[in-house]
Amino acid sequence: MDARTNPEAPSSPAHVAVYRKDYRPPDWWVREVELNLALDPARTAVTARLKVERNGEHGRPLRLAGDELRPLAVRVDGTDARWTMDGDDLLVELDTPEAWVETRVEIVPAANSKLMGLYESGGILCTQCESEGFRRITFHPDRPDVLSVYRVRMRADKARFPVLLANGNPVAAGEGEDGIHWAEWHDPFPKPSYLFALVAGDLAANRDSFTTMSGRAVELGIWVREKDLPRTHHAMAGLKAAMRWDEENYGREYDLDRFNIVAVDDFNFGAMENKGLNIFNSRYVLADTDTATDADFDAIAGVVAHEYFHNWSGDRVTCRDWFQLSLKEGFTVFRDQSFSADMTSEAVKRIDDVRLLRAVQFPEDAGPLAHPVRPDSYLEIANFYTATIYNKGAEVIRMMRTLLGPDAYRAGCDLYFERHDGEAATCDDFVQAMEDASGADLTQFRRWYEQAGTPHVRAALVRDGEGWALDLSQDTPPTPGQPDKAPVVIPLRTAVLGATSGRELVAEQVIALTEAHQRVPLGPVAETPLLSINRGFSAPVNVSVERAAGELEKLAEVDPDPFARFEATQELMMRALVAGATGDHANADPAPVIAAMGATLRSNALDPSFKGEALIIPSEALIGDRLDIVDPEAVHASRDALRAAVGAALADDLAAAQARGAAGDDLSNEAKGLRRLRTVALGLIAAADPARGAALAKAQYDAADNMTDRQGALVILAALDGPEREAALADFYDRYRGDTLVIDKWFAIQAEASRADTLDVVERLRAHGDFSLKNPNRLRAVAGSFASNPWVFHARDGRGYRLLADLVVESDRLNPQVAARLVPPFGRWRRFAEPWGSAMREALETIVRAPGLSKDVFEQASKSLA
Ligand code: TRP
Ligand code: ZN
Repeated sequence: MDARTNPEAPSSPAHVAVYRKDYRPPDWWVREVELNLALDPARTAVTARLKVERNGEHGRPLRLAGDELRPLAVRVDGTDARWTMDGDDLLVELDTPEAWVETRVEIVPAANSKLMGLYESGGILCTQCESEGFRRITFHPDRPDVLSVYRVRMRADKARFPVLLANGNPVAAGEGEDGIHWAEWHDPFPKPSYLFALVAGDLAANRDSFTTMSGRAVELGIWVREKDLPRTHHAMAGLKAAMRWDEENYGREYDLDRFNIVAVDDFNFGAMENKGLNIFNSRYVLADTDTATDADFDAIAGVVAHEYFHNWSGDRVTCRDWFQLSLKEGFTVFRDQSFSADMTSEAVKRIDDVRLLRAVQFPEDAGPLAHPVRPDSYLEIANFYTATIYNKGAEVIRMMRTLLGPDAYRAGCDLYFERHDGEAATCDDFVQAMEDASGADLTQFRRWYEQAGTPHVRAALVRDGEGWALDLSQDTPPTPGQPDKAPVVIPLRTAVLGATSGRELVAEQVIALTEAHQRVPLGPVAETPLLSINRGFSAPVNVSVERAAGELEKLAEVDPDPFARFEATQELMMRALVAGATGDHANADPAPVIAAMGATLRSNALDPSFKGEALIIPSEALIGDRLDIVDPEAVHASRDALRAAVGAALADDLAAAQARGAAGDDLSNEAKGLRRLRTVALGLIAAADPARGAALAKAQYDAADNMTDRQGALVILAALDGPEREAALADFYDRYRGDTLVIDKWFAIQAEASRADTLDVVERLRAHGDFSLKNPNRLRAVAGSFASNPWVFHARDGRGYRLLADLVVESDRLNPQVAARLVPPFGRWRRFAEPWGSAMREALETIVRAPGLSKDVFEQASKSLA
């Protein structure tokens, strides 16, 4: 039996790496695609007609990628073709420089548990094609530098699938026999196959319209199940705000007559920017104040904006190859961050973004899976949708804006869009546009795309003749495959303040640190100077400052830059936490932390959302990142001790903050801040006095008229003992039974609880009737949650590791992409003390040995062991 008759035949025995240096332009273009689909979950027939055109002079056949496909017919210009299979690829011999190539396949959406290609979610048929899902629908080059105009005809049972959507505009529709109907859609913008989408289902639309800056009317639709319509208003408001914002800030106007969003419950990631037809994980669409927290509302606005912004940064200008992924993702994340900052609070948004960067990207950059913003190789591209590509990529764009200034940055963006509209571009094309528009030389800056690892900057104020100078040095630690690093360009927003007066002695400036060592003269100053550096987190680096006693305390009190002030408070906390975890009693004194936090709580100048952020004590994971060797029990004890000390010392101020709230339907920044602060305060109260915390949490839970207060109280209760805990969890479940997104919270809250019995609870959750490995959100709510709960995951007997390894191997059989994303928590094993380190390594070895492992999980687990 050969591969042609047996689609199950193993095609590529070894996992083969793809290298950036091997990029070659395609042998054949595909100018037009005509797709015809007879949609049925049990068996969908797909006929594709590709108008292909030879690229240059050569005799090579047309190579079309497939994944779990078997060709039922292959024709060239209407006659039977000469074709062979090469593994999963279909090779077609062509004698002319242009041809129409037709293929026919059959696929089974209902059996597609990978959720890539065409699949079924809750009775809806939908697609996910990024990065390489289109080849699971039909044979196609399926590479992002092949752009085509698509015409899509779908037919389906009208009763089950009354709504038929695809990219672009509807051009024709009709009814056939036996309850069948059909629709044809046409997308005039050439696009790569990863942006193809269709949806068929019993959906209702929240319809609205938007008038663009040139006066064109765009019909907007958010498509969901009828019962969910009332929960689509926030997403719609966010979409319209994003459309206006992109016009005002980037001059980008929407280009089609329609823009549709569809929400589905089963989705591998957050959402997808398919041209004119974005498909979303329902958690980033559906919200009302009874079921969604303020954080959920903000995430919805952010993700809706992100996907919308891709229409230009991703769709109109796309990526030449997948190594350029950050070209669209880093840029688009920076754009959505800027949008959210404008809609909420710039300082608080920046704190949130930096918290995420430090929690996820810095550990990635410091571990075995570290890779550059523009990687050099991969086994499975789905593993490279990482915090490095997205969030560090966004920092790289942000730094260019900081270095060039807002006007030159905008001119660079305009030039980039104008120059590459309709093309597949590279990260270097983006930097080149920035250089050409500004006249700046970004040669050295390009290293940010090439080098992995988080640079470490050391800074000290030193005497310099009559005055002072800033001494700076940088170095980037080695990462896999990159032992030696060169200096990068590090823009440091810096000011010098007076240690007594708190006045600004040297005005804020952007210092570009470009050398390994650099001295910046500051001139004479009137009093002892205090260094305020990397304000606003102007560069994604770790900074160590040589400071005199009392300096951090003073900065936490007086720094006018809100981010820098937050940082100073965090550093005070971190000093005590690290000391506590390493038995350094002299530095573990909580008094300076208590003083700074008390001043923040009582301040009249600071708004509640800032206070809420500034009072969060760094996580156990973040403390661990500061230690050479991590003892997770010592870290846990240190953090608990500081929380209890703060909670006891500031009991009255915290109680006052907890007592204040805001009306549940008030989504103003002030109201959101008050709610945030009250639950942060509640947590600290409970840390010092669990009985009082439980009583207050129960009262907050019972009185809650919104999910933020209710979930906040439940999170605190879930970590405590006593009857309130069980009662509240049971009440929450009963109240929201059947509401998928809220029941995800119920699972996650229990798996995130810092309790000695949480692994038992997780075992029970895994056996719960509502648990399913097939639904990515539910799997993440259990597996992802306990794996990011350090004290529980790092149980001394290794049980947490075995449990996660088991879930990885089991879910890999259904959905490799999602399973692979559960592996990174193991990657830190070299940094852990015994017995933890060895037990983590053993769990990784168990995964690698599992028979039939996917390429996705194999890559993550084997690289983690290296
Ligand atoms: N491009 C999507 C985004 O950033 C990410 C994405 C959605 C994705 N679904 C995916 C990536 C599936 C890989 C596989 O918004
Ligand atoms: Zn994106």
